[in-house]
Amino acid sequence: MVAVTLLAPVLLGCLAAAKTCTNVTVPVTIMARQGMFEVPTLQSNFDATTFALNFTTQGTNFTNASLTGYQTVNLPANISAKYCKPDNDSSASPTVQVLSHGIGFDKSYWDLPYNDYNYSYIDVALAHGFHTVSIDRFGIGNSSHGDPLNVVQAPAEVSALYDITMMLRSGDFPSVSTAFNKVVHVGHSFGSAQTYLLSAMHPNATDGIALTGFSMNATWLPQTLADWNLHLARLNQPLRFGNQTVSRSSRWTALFFNTAPVQLLQSVLQSIGIQLSPYQVWEEIATTELGDLINQWNATVAPIAQNVPTGYLTWSDFTSNIFAFLHPGMFDIGLGIFSEMTKQPVTLGEIFTLANGAPMINPFTGPVQVVTGQRDAIYCGGDCLNTGGVAASIPAMVKSNFPDASVFETVIQPNTGHGINLHYNSTGAYEAIQTFFTSNNLGGY
Ligand SMILES: *[C@@H]1O[C@H](CO)[C@@H](O)[C@H](O)[C@H]1NC(C)=O
Ligand SMILES: *[C@@H]1O[C@H](CO)[C@@H](O)[C@H](O)[C@H]1NC(C)=O
Ligand SMILES: *[C@@H]1O[C@H](CO)[C@@H](O)[C@H](O)[C@H]1NC(C)=O
Ligand SMILES: *[C@@H]1O[C@H](CO)[C@@H](O)[C@H](O)[C@H]1NC(C)=O
Ligand SMILES: *[C@@H]1O[C@H](CO)[C@@H](O)[C@H](O)[C@H]1NC(C)=O
Ligand SMILES: *[C@@H]1O[C@H](CO)[C@@H](O)[C@H](O)[C@H]1NC(C)=O
Ligand SMILES: *[C@@H]1O[C@H](CO)[C@@H](O)[C@H](O)[C@H]1NC(C)=O
Ligand SMILES: *[C@@H]1O[C@H](CO)[C@@H](O)[C@H](O)[C@H]1NC(C)=O
Ligand SMILES: *[C@@H]1O[C@H](CO)[C@@H](O)[C@H](O)[C@H]1NC(C)=O
Ligand SMILES: *[C@@H]1O[C@H](CO)[C@@H](O)[C@H](O)[C@H]1NC(C)=O
Ligand SMILES: *[C@@H]1O[C@H](CO)[C@@H](O)[C@H](O)[C@H]1NC(C)=O
Ligand SMILES: *[C@@H]1O[C@H](CO)[C@@H](O)[C@H](O)[C@H]1NC(C)=O
Repeated sequence: MVAVTLLAPVLLGCLAAAKTCTNVTVPVTIMARQGMFEVPTLQSNFDATTFALNFTTQGTNFTNASLTGYQTVNLPANISAKYCKPDNDSSASPTVQVLSHGIGFDKSYWDLPYNDYNYSYIDVALAHGFHTVSIDRFGIGNSSHGDPLNVVQAPAEVSALYDITMMLRSGDFPSVSTAFNKVVHVGHSFGSAQTYLLSAMHPNATDGIALTGFSMNATWLPQTLADWNLHLARLNQPLRFGNQTVSRSSRWTALFFNTAPVQLLQSVLQSIGIQLSPYQVWEEIATTELGDLINQWNATVAPIAQNVPTGYLTWSDFTSNIFAFLHPGMFDIGLGIFSEMTKQPVTLGEIFTLANGAPMINPFTGPVQVVTGQRDAIYCGGDCLNTGGVAASIPAMVKSNFPDASVFETVIQPNTGHGINLHYNSTGAYEAIQTFFTSNNLGGY
């Protein structure tokens, strides 16, 4: 029973919403001026730990210490996107929402298939008349990958986001004939940081922004990196991120005997005198890297190993995931495990540009909403309302970064950690975002 939970079957049906979605490969040109860093090529998990120690050493700015100069990156790339529209669309001039995921996710963050799409952001946006384009950020998932240190950084990813935005406005977005008059942007976490950067660099590119899982307070970034216990993605899930393949038949054999890891470990432990119940053995697996090794077998129907370089990293295991992204008691463990087995890596260049390089004064003049879980560990240190009395909340302080915004609104989502979409009340947050856009004349109903 518990073993089945670890390898929980996931319905991938398309039953939930009356929506039509298209997978689109969008050619873009990455054009970005960004930092050149010098860090030794990581060879092992030990090197990943050294990097994390270097990055978090108090009194040093490792980003600055590793910076050797700047360069302009100019490269063609493909962005993997999903365009969705409601089947009962009746608007002559719909608004499209461009959705940018955060670290550890890909575009499926916005359309989680778990529990028959009960956590789908896209379903809620479509029910309010919006169209959506969710992308795998440049460097991640099915989008083009690149050098994880000096190419896959925030500015390069924002450049791709800008190209996509302009195609939607001009009607040149592949397979979509509409030229959208209104384009709004929704981000989560690092995707919010990139949405912030887009609105700062190209204030006219967007009509309104919703920054979810976000604040401008970087106090808890070192704590987050420490929690992640970074390992090479290639080693953490070799079938998804390395160059390993297993035959189809052994994959199915493994799935057929999906209780085997628990039974095997239990009997090995018994043979040396350690008595653990099946649940305890399941926990040993599910809360350690062994869980990643086993779960990747069924991460997708036929995983295609991404063969990413060693500068692509990931947190070590599901408990590290929980610390950073989830608020205990407020999420379904099965969905948490699903997010661990389908997780995506983070690059060294992304870590260097996570909290650096964004202008503190953003000239954007449209409506801005910040939606952050009250218990967000990464951007609020676990309590967004504890500001020592200087503001209503830590996310509310983002208002000072947008002196010219026509409207600024903060939503502190109760009972929710950083990964908003994975919590029980995710649809509550989705509704607040649609209401914000609609009430500010940005489309929808
Ligand atoms: C593996 O994944 C597929 C597709 O998501 C699902 O149909 C199947 O039930 C899963 N098997 C197990 C043992 O989890
Ligand atoms: C789009 O791609 C996903 C995998 O990324 C696949 O599951 C789905 O069936 C595809 N949809 C269409 C309409 O091709
Ligand atoms: C960590 O910092 C030390 C001292 O600056 C340096 O020699 C080493 O190359 C760095 N290693 C990594 C992986 O960042
Ligand atoms: C960055 O490092 C250089 C020396 O390499 C130093 O002069 C400069 O003050 C540092 N800047 C910051 C922001 O730490
Ligand atoms: C660290 O160095 C980077 C690169 O020079 C710089 O952008 C950033 O502002 C510095 N951070 C702090 C806290 O000084
Ligand atoms: C983008 O994908 C097309 C095929 O879909 C391929 O021909 C092209 O080389 C790819 N471009 C890049 C930069 O990877
Ligand atoms: C989806 O959520 C609703 C309530 O929010 C619940 O009634 C329903 O059972 C859930 N469906 C699934 C498949 O989890
Ligand atoms: C389309 O369907 C959704 C629910 O599936 C509903 O909320 C919405 O009002 C409908 N829109 C129109 C224009 O009928
Ligand atoms: C944005 O549009 C306004 C009005 O159309 C124009 O005055 C302004 O220069 C534009 N700003 C940028 C950065 O393109
Ligand atoms: C995987 O890559 C390593 C080098 O990084 C190579 O030695 C090995 O042969 C590759 N394995 C496969 C199955 O391609
Ligand atoms: C971050 O939030 C903490 C707690 O509210 C506060 O003490 C600190 O001054 C904030 N830092 C910044 C840069 O706003
Ligand atoms: C769910 O989210 C909405 C929107 O933020 C909020 O108003 C409501 O109180 C939340 N419900 C619970 C039970 O947390």
